[in-house]
Amino acid sequence: MGDHGIELIERFPDVDDYCRLRVAAGMTPKTREAATRGLPNTLYGVSLVRDGQVVGMGRIIGDNGTVFTVADIAVVPALQGRGLGRRILVALDAWLRANVPESAYVTLIADGDAKFLYAKFGFVDSAPASINMEYMMLAGGRRSTDAG
Ligand SMILES: CC(C)(COP(=O)(O)OP(=O)(O)OC[C@H]1O[C@@H](n2cnc3c(N)ncnc32)[C@H](O)[C@@H]1OP(=O)(O)O)[C@@H](O)C(=O)NCCC(=O)NCCS
Repeated sequence: MGDHGIELIERFPDVDDYCRLRVAAGMTPKTREAATRGLPNTLYGVSLVRDGQVVGMGRIIGDNGTVFTVADIAVVPALQGRGLGRRILVALDAWLRANVPESAYVTLIADGDAKFLYAKFGFVDSAPASINMEYMMLAGGRRSTDAG
């Protein structure tokens, strides 16, 4: 058991908790179909649990050899700003250090002030040499460039 009675578990949330937490943290919603397909492909993931309720999450996805991506980092708003995001990153960073082979690329997309958290774990801004390019898939193959 860690700070504030919040436990870090080395298991990523299930589909229900994942979808709920993304919305609670102000991130773009994922459909149940997308989450059901995607979550089993998690390489390593953690949950923060308080009183049996998932209140934070983070995971690593990728091909497990050449590219690793830190994704879905979220803490419920009521508990933000008290070091829980850091606890998630400490766990992911330990896994990355132990499991990522030399020459592999470790990447993430930082929203807003989360960049300050990631910078503490060695991530640097890729621009202007490289920029992130993206769209979000909508129904019927249409695309949104407001992928947030
Ligand atoms: C991003 C998020 C996970 C961070 O979680 P958190 O529990 O609030 O973060 P922490 O309290 O652990 O603070 C993270 C660190 O960033 C630092 N930080 C945060 N905002 C900062 C700012 N504007 N300037 C400088 N440092 C800042 C904090 O000082 C802290 O550093 P420290 O551990 O050395 O004190 C959380 O705010 C969240 O869920 N946001 C909504 C969802 C989201 O945007 N996720 C990220 C997607 S990329």
